[in-house]
Amino acid sequence: MEIRKIEDKCIKCMLCVKDCIAGVIRNIDGEAQIVQPDLCNLCSHCVAVCPKGAIYHDGLDAKDLREIRKELISSESYKEIAITRRSIRNYKDKPVPKEIIEDIIDVARYSPTASNLQDVGYTIVTDKHLLKKVSNWIFGLGNWVYSLIQTKPGKTFKWALEQAEATKSAAKYFDGMDYYKQQSELGKDYILHNAPVLILIHSPSGMEFASDNCNISAANITNYAHSLGLGTCYIGFLTLALRYDPILKWWLDIPKDRQVYSSLVMGYPAYSHAFTVSRKKAFVKWI
Ligand SMILES: Cc1cc2nc3c(=O)[nH]c(=O)nc-3n(C[C@H](O)[C@H](O)[C@H](O)COP(=O)(O)O)c2cc1C
Repeated sequence: MEIRKIEDKCIKCMLCVKDCIAGVIRNIDGEAQIVQPDLCNLCSHCVAVCPKGAIYHDGLDAKDLREIRKELISSESYKEIAITRRSIRNYKDKPVPKEIIEDIIDVARYSPTASNLQDVGYTIVTDKHLLKKVSNWIFGLGNWVYSLIQTKPGKTFKWALEQAEATKSAAKYFDGMDYYKQQSELGKDYILHNAPVLILIHSPSGMEFASDNCNISAANITNYAHSLGLGTCYIGFLTLALRYDPILKWWLDIPKDRQVYSSLVMGYPAYSHAFTVSRKKAFVKWI
């Protein structure tokens, strides 16, 4: 990897030194000097911050480096997107064009990752047959657990789930299971919501910050998709099932050494929400 300063362009502003957290570029006697290129994590900051284009870095994709269009950044617009994004659970029977999905993934790849590892991967499923199979499988698992909790020892198990902080919010859904089964027979899909697209976001298993990296990417996807008129919904049931069920991992062709940390469905919403929603006050402590 070659990182070089183009001498006749450098104005010694030292912004590259200030912005290089790895210490690749250092201020030596008033000159920005490339000292330890092997420490570089390819964050691009040196190139992005230099007002004169005086840094040459052959480890970066030049196509990605362009001037920022500040006029397009609007806090008002961002706030409206963030506040009005909803989990969409009813979709039109309409495919999402591949170019749009590609554009969304292109935006997602700019999401931050710890140490700029950029090791987040995406599996995109549009095969209707497979989506149905996955959905039915998970609903079937829920149904199986539901039948178990009708037994005496099962009732104790359900009670234990309801007491534990970690499981009590999911355990309550068993109380609606008879209704969900009835609706499911009429075509309602409680797992993947009959969405035309499933996006599985994965990272090398067990890496520090793997879940953070995937979920930051997921948040960007949900917000950007919303700005494009698309709806999304996190599918925690699937993320959880993929953690324990090798069959699902095999069907969805998730590489053995990677784990799905976030699952999203996406598609065109069947209808829109007219109003914003209510939320608890943020739990904030100022120090
Ligand atoms: C980590 C996570 C997992 C979720 N899992 C599911 C799920 O399996 N199925 C579903 O329909 N919604 C799921 N949701 C959506 C939440 O229920 C939803 O975000 C919440 O009710 C707030 O509604 P909103 O997204 O419309 O603001 C999940 C959300 C998150 C953040």
